[in-house]
Amino acid sequence: MRILVTGGAGFIGSHFIRCYLAEHPDAEVVNLDKLTYAGNLENLRDFEDDARYHFMKGDICDYGVVEEAIHGVDVVVNFAAETHVDRSIGDPEGFLKTDVFGVHVLLESARAHDVRLFVQISTDEVYGPTMDDPFAEDAPLTPRNPYSASKAGGEMLARSYFTTYGYPVIVTRAANNIGPNQYPEKVVPLFATNAIEDKPLPLYGSGDQERDYMYVTDHCAALDLIIEKGVPGETYNIGAGNHMKNVEMAKLVLRELGKSVDLITHVRDREGHDFRYAVDSTKLMELGWEPEYDAETAIRRTVRWYAEHPEWWKPLKSGEFREYYEKQYSKRLEEAGDQQGS
Ligand code: NAD
Ligand code: TYD
Repeated sequence: MRILVTGGAGFIGSHFIRCYLAEHPDAEVVNLDKLTYAGNLENLRDFEDDARYHFMKGDICDYGVVEEAIHGVDVVVNFAAETHVDRSIGDPEGFLKTDVFGVHVLLESARAHDVRLFVQISTDEVYGPTMDDPFAEDAPLTPRNPYSASKAGGEMLARSYFTTYGYPVIVTRAANNIGPNQYPEKVVPLFATNAIEDKPLPLYGSGDQERDYMYVTDHCAALDLIIEKGVPGETYNIGAGNHMKNVEMAKLVLRELGKSVDLITHVRDREGHDFRYAVDSTKLMELGWEPEYDAETAIRRTVRWYAEHPEWWKPLKSGEFREYYEKQYSKRLEEAGDQQGS
C-alpha cells in the first residue's frame, strides 16, 4: 500500500505517518508538504533514512507538484491546511487557497489517477457550536469563522466528487487534537510553554468555553480503521468526549507544572468565539474505535512532553511566532482593559 499524506510535516500528519508505518510495516508513505510556518521536518527526522518514507516539498495547490506526488498511490489522506482560527480571522485568503482550492487540485489528480480512496481530514468546527446534544454526521453545517468555513468548503467539494462522479471519498470530522509536536499557537502547547517560561496564559473572555481534547494517537488509530473499514461516501465524526472548559484546562496545565494560577490572564475574547463543540462518534465506534486517553491524561501527557522537549519548541517560539504572538497578546490585553474601563 502506498499512501500520499499531504501536510505530513505538521502536527497530526506527522503522528499519522509514524503510527501508520508502525502498524503497517510494508506500507510506503509519500509526504507532500509546503513547509509553511507550521510544517517542521524535525517531527519525522528519525524517518529520514527509512526506505518506506519519501518527503516532497510542495504545494497542494500546484497541479504539477501533485501530479508528481500521486503516481502509484493507492490512498490520499489530505491533512494539508491552514489551521489556526485566530490567523484566519486576521488574514483569511491563504485559508481559502489551501483549504478549498488545494482540495480541488488533489481531488482532480486523484480521480484522474484512479487513486482508490481519498480521505479528506475535516473538523468538528464545521458544525459550529452547540450547547445541546452532540452533532451526528447528518447535522447541518454552520461554520462561523473563515477557518471552519473554508474547511466546510473543502469537505463539501470532496463529498460532491462521490455524488457526482462516484469517486470514493471519505470525510472525517475530528475534535481538537493535543499531543507532542503541536505548533505552540494552539492553546494547550501555548499555555504549557508559557507556563514553563513563567509567562502569562492569555485566556480568551470568560474562559468558560469548552473543547473536546483528544490525544493525537487516538485520532491516528481512528483514521487507520477508517482507511481499512470505512465506507466510501460516508462521513465519520472523531471525538473522544473529553470535554473541558478552557479555564479548567489552564488550571490543569499549571498544576501539572507546579506553577501558580496567577499566571492566568483574562484577555479580550476571540471574535465570534465558538463556545462549545461536540460530536457524536457512535458511527465510528461501531467500526470498532475507542479512545485510549481521557481529557486529564491527554492534557497531562502533552504538558509533560513540552516540559521534556524545550529543544523542539524554543526555536519556534523565538522565530516567526514571537512577533505574531506578542502583537496579538498585547492588543488583546489592552482591549480587555478598555472593555473593563468602558
Ligand atoms: P498543522 O497546522 O500543524 O499542519 C498543517 C501542515 O500542512 C503543515 O505541515 C503545513 O506546512 C502543511 N501545509 C499547509 N498548507 C499547505 C499547502 N498548500 N500544501 C502543502 N502543505 C501545506 O495542522 P494540524 O493541526 O496537524 O491539522 C492537520 C489537519 O487536521 C488539518 O486539515 C486540520 O484542519 C485538521 N484538524 C485539526 C485539528 C486540530 O486540533 N489540530 C482538529 C480537527 C481537524
Ligand atoms: P485553539 O487551540 O486555537 O483551537 P480552536 O479554536 O480551533 O478550537 O483554541 C482552543 C480554545 O482555547 C478556544 O476556545 C480558544 C481558547 N484560547 C484561549 O483562551 N487563549 C489562547 O491564547 C488561544 C490560542 C485559544
